[in-house]
Amino acid sequence: MSQTILIATGNPGKLREYSEIFGVLGVTFVMPADVGLAGFEPDEPYETFVENARHKALAYAARANMPVVADDSGLCIDALEGRPGVYSARYAGPGASDDDRTQKVLAELADVADDQRGAQFVCVSAAALPDGTVESAEGIVRGLIARAPGRRITGFGYDPIFVPEGYVVPFSEMPAAEKHAISHRGRAAVALLPALKRLLEDYRPD
Ligand code: IMP
Repeated sequence: MSQTILIATGNPGKLREYSEIFGVLGVTFVMPADVGLAGFEPDEPYETFVENARHKALAYAARANMPVVADDSGLCIDALEGRPGVYSARYAGPGASDDDRTQKVLAELADVADDQRGAQFVCVSAAALPDGTVESAEGIVRGLIARAPGRRITGFGYDPIFVPEGYVVPFSEMPAAEKHAISHRGRAAVALLPALKRLLEDYRPD
């Protein structure tokens, strides 16, 4: 029987990206809603991506009693000393939209020169088993914060203001597959793949 991995996200775009990269494992992927955990939101209490990602993966694995992949990600802006970083989702306060958050970044960088607008998206993906085993890997993509948002055609979050290195359009104007090929999440998932494979080989459901 094929093994099942819980991809701990409510975002179908993230699920698609992970299932493409982990497709080589020949396993079945489910989301929290598929296993009765739609409302389960573990906290993200730490100040590093790696601690939050591992904490989230372990919390889901214990709760769902199956192998889990979870991640923590965010945008780290050089001129803001790495902010919003692990606070990217909460940057403009509760109830704020993606557009509110991008506008807040643009306002904070209004006086920052073009050659000082470097930034990176960071993602740590973590794989955990119900027995408390956990592995993680990091992916980074560098780029520049644009002066104005691009069109929101694909993607989510800060994509309209992030132009990856070597490109002239923001993530939000790139075909999804092109973004995934160079994205922080894509890179973290590829880096996690060997450890995830080992975890699944060793996993014995009780
Ligand atoms: P979390 O990883 O779900 O805790 O949230 C990370 C936050 O960082 C998201 O809500 C987005 O605001 C931002 N973020 C992470 N990855 C991306 C991306 O690929 N594009 C745009 N924004 C992102």
